[in-house]
Amino acid sequence: MASGRESWSSRLGFTLAAVGSAVGLGNMWRFSYMTAENGGAAFVMLYVLMTALVGLPVMLAELTLGRGAARSPVQALIHYGGRPWGALGIVFVLAGVAILSYYGVIAGWTVRYGIEALTQGFPADAGDKFGAIATGGAAVAWHLGFLAVTTLVVSGGVRGGIERAALWLMPALGVLVVGLALYAATLEGASAGYAFYFQTDFGALADMDVLKDAAGQAFFSLSLGMGAILTYASYLSRDQDLPAESVTIALSDFAVAFIAGLVVFPLIFALGLQDEVGGSTLGALFITLPKAFASMGTAGTVIGVAFFAALVVGALTSAVSLLEVVVSTLIDQTGMERRTAALVCGGAIALLGVPSALSLDVLGLVDQVGGQLLLILGGLALAIFVGFFMPDPTGEASEGSRFGALLFAWRALLRFVVVPILAVVSVYTLIDTWNALAALVAG
Ligand code: TRP
Repeated sequence: MASGRESWSSRLGFTLAAVGSAVGLGNMWRFSYMTAENGGAAFVMLYVLMTALVGLPVMLAELTLGRGAARSPVQALIHYGGRPWGALGIVFVLAGVAILSYYGVIAGWTVRYGIEALTQGFPADAGDKFGAIATGGAAVAWHLGFLAVTTLVVSGGVRGGIERAALWLMPALGVLVVGLALYAATLEGASAGYAFYFQTDFGALADMDVLKDAAGQAFFSLSLGMGAILTYASYLSRDQDLPAESVTIALSDFAVAFIAGLVVFPLIFALGLQDEVGGSTLGALFITLPKAFASMGTAGTVIGVAFFAALVVGALTSAVSLLEVVVSTLIDQTGMERRTAALVCGGAIALLGVPSALSLDVLGLVDQVGGQLLLILGGLALAIFVGFFMPDPTGEASEGSRFGALLFAWRALLRFVVVPILAVVSVYTLIDTWNALAALVAG
């Protein structure tokens, strides 16, 4: 199995693919509405803290497991931990299926907004427009189309599909986002947006709900807790510096999220639309930002199309990594040919996403369970495994690394910082999920 395994063609190829996995709708859409919902800079600070203290160690754990075993998640966990740990791998795959099933729906909205803006401009009645396109037959169709493209990239293989796409898409995304932030800085009234973004509500720092959201956002944005980074690392050679990679990936991911905030908040405040994001929900950015673009005339169309193009690029490279977890598992378990495996998995997930394309309640619930609860629980289990059970993880992680001497601190961090924090966050996330379920049942 291991000898015929695919591999990245270059170091940069892996780095860009992993950054492509991390940077997605989570950075530009989820980060902005989470920040708005949780009161600005305090949330950002906790998010940075969670990224550094919890995200980074877990990222290195995934990289170490994946490269060390050179297998997809289920087999990697069995390799190091024996049969029972394979169950965790199965949870990873299920989380991947759940996340991609609704991620495709949101990505579908994004593609549609971008294309229709190009042909028709942004509509003034953005709220009605979102209501009309968010669910229903057309939402199903755009979701299926997006997953078809995702499947196509994954069936091209690690080098010919995933790496090739990342090599030109990620630099393009970087240019777009930086350009947009520079433009937003020129808007009259932008400073009110910065003021909101940087104003710290210190009370929020001690709020467990904000901490829970910050941890959840860090996991989602870094693609952690379900084996995506693990799977990408399984195609890596032993001379790559894993601790250095984890820092590069996390910094790039934070940079894009932070810069996206420098686009979103000035735009919203310059156009006086801030009241609409106060009680922010899933759809807020899809309503407020198009409104902003519509009121800016031709410039708004250009800027808006660039914004949605960046979102689509991020969404595609992220969706590819989610699908790759499922596909590589099927390949490793059955020996199936990659193209067949991609078609089977992509097709099944596309169908599973249909209910999310028909109901925002279903979409929200699948996000709560797959995109939040399972990631936190998966991350906790992974930290326990690598922190306490995996034989000699520091030895494996230090292979090819300049930072080997520092890695004893990594395992201590996993044991005594990551595990306790994630245990507490798990409880709050469980309560949250329970409440969401109860609210849905109560109608
Ligand atoms: N990180 C991506 C984003 O921010 C989404 C994503 C890709 C993801 N792969 C993942 C989230 C694995 C959780 C787990 O949009």
